[in-house]
Amino acid sequence: MTPAGPPNGRLAIFPGSFDPVTNGHVDIVLRSAHLFERVLVAVLVNPEKRPLFTPEERVSIIREVFAEYPNVEVDTFDGLLVEYARKRRASAIVRGIRAVSDFELEFQMALMNRHLEPTLETVFMMPAEQYTYLSSRLIKEVFSLGGDVRGLVPAVVERWMKKKKQ
Ligand code: PNS
Repeated sequence: MTPAGPPNGRLAIFPGSFDPVTNGHVDIVLRSAHLFERVLVAVLVNPEKRPLFTPEERVSIIREVFAEYPNVEVDTFDGLLVEYARKRRASAIVRGIRAVSDFELEFQMALMNRHLEPTLETVFMMPAEQYTYLSSRLIKEVFSLGGDVRGLVPAVVERWMKKKKQ
């Protein structure tokens, strides 16, 4: 792969589905924002999935969550992550690791991404331990069955989920 230009060493991409963004994701973004000058939260547009929120809704939600953080940007992407990272001239991909069970898939993806673009590093970060059991899938399940998700997702997300349910 021919680089599009020198990578911006201070830009990290945090890619994911974020359907919806959880406090675990927020924790990882804030930790990344300490390490990197800019963090780009990149929402995957996956036409095969039936999401709760459209990619545009997810971008609006995440923008609202990080409204007070000028070094956190939000965007959508489709296709190969490494192509998007190249286009944005990022030098790192950030992924959160919650437990050993996350490791195998994350390791595969990191090495595949490195095969496709050797200059792009993957950085794994651990969220605070109170978020290690959190996942977007569980949040949706608990919420749809009437469970309380307060403290597990940003208040903005709770509001949007309640609106969707009406
Ligand atoms: O939040 P998720 O669903 O765990 O995020 C997965 C994501 C978006 C990081 C991964 O599916 C991805 O990078 N998709 C883009 C397509 C791609 O580049 N696939 C090859 C990755 S090795």
